[in-house]
Amino acid sequence: MTKPVFAPRVFSGIKPSGGLTLGNYLGAIKRFVDMQGPKFETIYCVVDLHAITVWQDPAELRTATREVAAGYLASGIDPERSILFNQSQVHEHAELGWLFNCVARVGWMNRMTQFKDKAGENAEGVSLGLYAYPSLMAADILLYHATHVPVGEDQKQHVELTRDIAAKFNHDYKVDFFPMTTPVIEGPAMRIMNLRDGTKKMSKSGESDMERINMTDDADLIAKKFKKAKTDPEPLPETVEGLAARPEAKNLVDIYAALNDQTAEQVITEYAGAGWGRFKPALADLAVEKLAPISTEMKRLMDDPAEIDRTLGRGADRAREIAQPILRQAYDIVGMLRS
Ligand code: AMP
Ligand code: TRP
Repeated sequence: MTKPVFAPRVFSGIKPSGGLTLGNYLGAIKRFVDMQGPKFETIYCVVDLHAITVWQDPAELRTATREVAAGYLASGIDPERSILFNQSQVHEHAELGWLFNCVARVGWMNRMTQFKDKAGENAEGVSLGLYAYPSLMAADILLYHATHVPVGEDQKQHVELTRDIAAKFNHDYKVDFFPMTTPVIEGPAMRIMNLRDGTKKMSKSGESDMERINMTDDADLIAKKFKKAKTDPEPLPETVEGLAARPEAKNLVDIYAALNDQTAEQVITEYAGAGWGRFKPALADLAVEKLAPISTEMKRLMDDPAEIDRTLGRGADRAREIAQPILRQAYDIVGMLRS
């Protein structure tokens, strides 16, 4: 049997659970923008079904869904060149997610480190959805036969699970139906850390607002947060190797590099030996220069929620055109009767 050839197609998603951070921007959205172009068909999603794996206030969830959409648009996702939509408007995601719940093994889910981190001591009290969510994520990706998935480092294990699910489905039903998706995890921004503790990831849900930059922060707040960011007393080293045991310093260099489309090496070459009194203001200026136009545009877009909703609706129609025939074939393969 000849192997099918899958057209290069990118899929990725962001949860509307709170505001967008600099981690989301550099680790995800900015890279999504860069992948738009002739090489790939690009599909970007606001994964609202994933958000409710933990409690979300309904009105706040709708606002957060629009805000993630506004973040995508303001950063340069073009809804003509890419397909941009929210997950719940394409019900095929939930349906393929169910098929995959019956393919994935409990033993596989038990190895998911993000679940263990999030559930913590309270593993008995979290939702079943939080446990099953990597299988819905696999459905998000494979519903479009996506070949490439740009994500931050924290999602690597989930994309690997997606490959395991595709392989088991193909093997069990003796088909070559789902592709082996490649995770795209590269560049200096794969894991942006908390500004107060360089060993923890910058996230939407950390306790203090000072530990993250939000995409909607104004210039003064961005400058203040970088100024107060934790560092060590040493100046910047002569080489990137000198950053190895200095998580906070490494993080600020990585942020600078990602914002400026440079490598960490290039930043170190320019700032070798510089003290924080020189580097932090330069970083704050750069962040403001890059983020201020985006946050201004996000605010403008959020003033017209109906227009965002129309954009997402049109995207959902286009997404469904791809998703529907793939789900149908998956149902046929599995043996679901169609009258
Ligand atoms: P989430 O906000 O958890 O839905 O994450 C959406 C995307 O942003 C995923 O691809 C994450 O890997 C990425 N992301 C979130 N936080 C960070 C971070 N601190 N550094 C790099 N990427 C991140
Ligand atoms: N699980 C991802 C996160 O928490 C979000 C996500 C859901 C996703 N479905 C996806 C990312 C599909 C890439 C592809 O960040």
